[in-house]
Amino acid sequence: MIDEMTTVLEPRPMLDFVETKYIKDITNRALSYIKAGFPVHLRGPSGTGKTTLAMHLASKIERPVVMIHGDEEFSTSDLVGGEHGYRIRKVVDRFIHSVLKTEEDMVKRWVDNRLTVACKYGFTLIYDEFTRSRPEANNILLSILQEKMMDLPVGRGGEEPYLKVDPDFTAIFTSNPEEYAGVHRSQDALRDRMITMDLDHFDYDTELAITQAKAKLSKQDSRIIVNIVRGLRESGKCEFAPTVRGCIMIAKTLKVQKLTPSKSTSRFMQMCQDILASETSRVGSKTNQNRVKEIIRELVAKELGIGKIINVSREADADSIVVDTVDNKMAENKKQKKESLIEIY
Ligand SMILES: Nc1ncnc2c1ncn2[C@@H]1O[C@H](COP(=O)(O)OP(=O)(O)OP(=O)(O)O)[C@@H](O)[C@H]1O
Ligand SMILES: [Mg+2]
Repeated sequence: MIDEMTTVLEPRPMLDFVETKYIKDITNRALSYIKAGFPVHLRGPSGTGKTTLAMHLASKIERPVVMIHGDEEFSTSDLVGGEHGYRIRKVVDRFIHSVLKTEEDMVKRWVDNRLTVACKYGFTLIYDEFTRSRPEANNILLSILQEKMMDLPVGRGGEEPYLKVDPDFTAIFTSNPEEYAGVHRSQDALRDRMITMDLDHFDYDTELAITQAKAKLSKQDSRIIVNIVRGLRESGKCEFAPTVRGCIMIAKTLKVQKLTPSKSTSRFMQMCQDILASETSRVGSKTNQNRVKEIIRELVAKELGIGKIINVSREADADSIVVDTVDNKMAENKKQKKESLIEIY
C-alpha cells in the first residue's frame, strides 16, 4: 500500500517580484544550467534573495513544485517516506442477521514523502537550506542526481526496489555559506553534482526596487533608506551585514506610520537604530551596538543633509573643535565656530 501525503505547490509569479537587470542575469544563467540538465545551487549570505530566486526559477520551469526546508532533525525517511501509522480494516459481517461478526486487521501504511513524489512525477524540487540537514540524510540525493535512480527502502513494497527519476525532475538547492551557525558542510560528492552560483547582496538598483516594491514607498524615501543600509554594510563594522530585509522593515514601518524621513527626523533615526542595530548583531553586545548606532546616526545625518557635533567645547579654539559632521558644507566650514550646528540625539 503506497500513499502520498505531501503538499505540492502550483508555482505562480510573485506579485511584487522585482526583475532588474541583475535578477534577469542570474535567472537566465540558472535556467541555462537547468535546461542542460543540472541541478542549481544558490549559495549566499542571509537576505541575498536565494529562496525568492529559487521560487522564481520554479515558476519559469512551469512544473508543480515540492519544497523541503533543511532541518538538523531530518532523517532519510523524512525525505523519502516511511511507514507512518497503520490502516485499520474492519469487516462487519451481518450475513446472518442475528449474528454479528467483525474482523479487524492492521496494515502498515507507507507514505511517500516529498522527495519521492518529486522524483516520481517529475516535479521541481526546491530544497531550501539543504545544509541544515545532516549529510547522511542527504545521501539519498547522490544517486538521484547522478544515476537518476532513487533507492527505495525496504518496506515501501509493491514496486521495484528503486524508482526511475522522471526526466522532468529538476532540483534547486539553496544554502548559506559554511561559516554560518547551524549549517553542515555540504558533502563534496553532493556539491560536485550541482552547479553552485554564489550570490552576494543585491546591486543598488535591485535593492532600491525591492524596498520600493515591498513597502510601496516613494523612490526618494526608499533611496534614503537604501543609502543608509548600504553605508552601514560597507562600513564593515557589523557582526552581520545588514540586508535588504532591514530596508524593507524600515520602509514598511514608515509607510504604516505615514511618516517621511525628512519630516520626522528623530523617529526615523530611532527606527533605523532599532532595526539595524539588532539585525546586525547576534549577541547584542552593548559596545558593539553603540558603535553601530553611532555609524547609523552619522549615515542618517548625511542622508538628511543635517550635521551633528560631538565633543564640542565652546571655549575651545576653532581648530580644536571636533566636528563630526557629514554635511559637506559644514565640513568646509569646519574652522568657523558655529552656533547654528544642529545636534541630533
Ligand atoms: N527579486 C525580488 N523581488 C522582490 N522581493 C525580493 C526579491 N528578492 C528578494 N526579495 C525579498 O528580499 C527578502 C530576502 O529574500 P530571501 O528570503 O529570498 O533571501 P534568502 O537569501 O533566502 O535569505 P535567508 O538566507 O535568510 O533565507 C525577502 O523579503 C524577499 O521577499
Ligand atoms: Mg531563504
